[in-house]
Amino acid sequence: GGPCDIYSSGGTPCVAAHSTTRALYSAYTGPLYQVQRGSDGATTTISPLSSGVANAAAQDSFCAGTTCLITIIYDQSGRGNHLTQAPPGGFNGPESNGYDNLASAIGAPVTLNGQKAYGVFISPGTGYRNNAASGTARGDAAEGMYAVLDGTHYNGACCFDYGNAETSSRDTGNGHMEAIYFGDSTVWGTGSGSGPWVMADLENGLFSGSSAGNNAGDPSISYRFVTAAVKGQPNQWAIRGANAASGSLSTFYSGARPTVSGYNPMSKEGAIILGIGGDNSNGAQGTFYEGVMTSGYPSDATENSVQANIVAAKYAVTSLTSGPALTVGSSISLRATTACCTTRYIAHTGSTVNTQVVSSSSAAALKQSASWTVRTGLGNSGCFSFESKDTPGSYIRHNNFALLLNANDGSKQFAEDATFCPQAGLNGQGSSLRAWGYPTRYFRHYNNILYIGSNGGVHTFDATTSFNDDVSFVISASFA
Ligand code: AHR
Ligand code: AHR
Ligand code: AHR
Repeated sequence: GGPCDIYSSGGTPCVAAHSTTRALYSAYTGPLYQVQRGSDGATTTISPLSSGVANAAAQDSFCAGTTCLITIIYDQSGRGNHLTQAPPGGFNGPESNGYDNLASAIGAPVTLNGQKAYGVFISPGTGYRNNAASGTARGDAAEGMYAVLDGTHYNGACCFDYGNAETSSRDTGNGHMEAIYFGDSTVWGTGSGSGPWVMADLENGLFSGSSAGNNAGDPSISYRFVTAAVKGQPNQWAIRGANAASGSLSTFYSGARPTVSGYNPMSKEGAIILGIGGDNSNGAQGTFYEGVMTSGYPSDATENSVQANIVAAKYAVTSLTSGPALTVGSSISLRATTACCTTRYIAHTGSTVNTQVVSSSSAAALKQSASWTVRTGLGNSGCFSFESKDTPGSYIRHNNFALLLNANDGSKQFAEDATFCPQAGLNGQGSSLRAWGYPTRYFRHYNNILYIGSNGGVHTFDATTSFNDDVSFVISASFA
């Protein structure tokens, strides 16, 4: 069976079941998610293979030579509680009309039992929601939920959540949410160590236990695959967590509701969020593989069986890159392939990263400025960083979606902003360099300046015209 078969047997059936990686009922054969491709706007649905694992090969073939976004994450429970692009609420998202961004379809590749699948990579600005869900808990009614997440992908912004939230996308007060939170926010609650933590987002507070502040019983948890669980019923709630690849769930809190006004009884509204806060706060990041919400308070025994089912699914890492191989320690130059610009190479002028015409007869200084040392990705060892030849210690990083040459300040933000994952060039030439933290975005030259551009979007450098060419670079041994 699947996790939702186990919850049904336990008397607490799933009322929402979301996963881009696998069927969550053994009998589920419907669509898992929908993708939309950039080349022509066409959509297709991705369904499970007979193993229950998503048919990632169907996505790869549909998206070949272009970009794809995850547009719908289907509800497998039969209640139609699908997740789609989150609308504006208390906060606007970055897309037009205040909508949040959609996730790239290729940002979070994994294998389950050796078969490739893709998770949902949430960058800051990305979010999914359903404000008209049916069957989810309202008021003080009981519910449970779990999610399988990437324990190494998080930040401290509000709020990488999955679960029950306001139907208005606005903060309507304490107790109007009950969702899983994962990250290292210290604005509200915290646990032991420096995070990340599994907490419960109960609105106007991330709770790690009985106190509104620190609760030492909630440990930092950063397995590559994390199972996070939150459940609540009248004057009782719990946080549990585990390594999703082995072992069993531990209980980090189980007890009474917070004594702060508004949380007992709860005023749950029943909308469903993924990757955002109740009021559409959208600064957080994280990766979601699967998750469910139940009707009724699942027993620890039921959840323990679900954890065993997750372990048996055998989540494992796989390559983040494709196309021509890069060698750590080698020196490279990157040539543009757009017809305008085939004699231009990625170089820099001070901190501005640009393209400049370079050849073997160019001055030594220009050759140096167009030469880069390949380093292991500062923010993810499965990808790469590019250190300047003429300014050692400085790397290409994105900031506000422009590429800059900046000195490595040692921060997690810098490391992530300086990490890029090459894939076969979208126009069939060379390589396209995907931003690890924003996998809808690639190295793109625009008016001869380098950005991380998406294939359509609100910035001028997100133009769809000439996108595939502008993001494809032929990589060779460096000039210097
Ligand atoms: O509870 C933490 C956050 O506070 C909620 O997610 C959001 O709605 C509010 O800003
Ligand atoms: O480039 C996008 C983001 O802008 C970076 O991740 C961050 O450093 C800046 O806020
Ligand atoms: O960077 C040169 C050109 O500028 C790009 O090819 C085009 O998209 C933009 O107008």
